[in-house]
Amino acid sequence: MIYITVPLDSSFKKEDFYCGKSLLDDYLHKQASQDIKRKLSVVFVLPHEEVRIKGYYTLSNNSIPREFVPDTVLKKMPKTYLNLPTTLLGRLAVDGNFMKQGLGELLLLDALKRSYDISTKSAGSIAVVVDPLDIDAKRFYSKYGFIELPDSGKMFLPMNVIGKLFQP
Ligand SMILES: CC(C)(COP(=O)(O)OP(=O)(O)OC[C@H]1O[C@@H](n2cnc3c(N)ncnc32)[C@H](O)[C@@H]1OP(=O)(O)O)[C@@H](O)C(=O)NCCC(=O)NCCS
Repeated sequence: MIYITVPLDSSFKKEDFYCGKSLLDDYLHKQASQDIKRKLSVVFVLPHEEVRIKGYYTLSNNSIPREFVPDTVLKKMPKTYLNLPTTLLGRLAVDGNFMKQGLGELLLLDALKRSYDISTKSAGSIAVVVDPLDIDAKRFYSKYGFIELPDSGKMFLPMNVIGKLFQP
């Protein structure tokens, strides 16, 4: 699979992007470039007519305490790991002009594929974790198998489940 997104750079008109959730719009307009410079996250965008953005997501390294990991996954993990490495899909949004056309699903698959490739080739990660903004976002991620982690409001999809999506 070839990725449908590219890393955000200064050629994009990020201020034209609106998904309707101000936290996600403001992030792209004001903070994303700084986060990239500081190596806090990588921002991937789905381009439209070269400089516009149809959608974006962010990925970062992350870890979760072992007591938050679901039992089915935890039982296979050595006890010496007090925190387990994960990949954080911190934000994902589609511009309002392009919603309900399947792009949210395509962006999510692109993010899962990148995360899976990282976990097999570059840096270990047992799951993709998301931090849904609200109940709508929770419903969106639940549709794709993400389960809620206790106490944190975050959601979790094991990397071995993700791997099955992409194995030939
Ligand atoms: C959530 C979001 C990314 C979905 O993007 P989209 O392009 O409209 O979604 P798609 O057209 O790919 O829809 C994919 C599936 O998700 C479902 N879906 C979309 N938005 C949903 C929502 N808010 N709640 C539950 N399900 C949702 C669709 O019904 C569709 O399922 P179906 O094929 O069974 O009908 C988009 O609405 C968005 O950017 N919202 C604002 C930002 C946001 O809340 N991001 C969430 C993570 S922080």
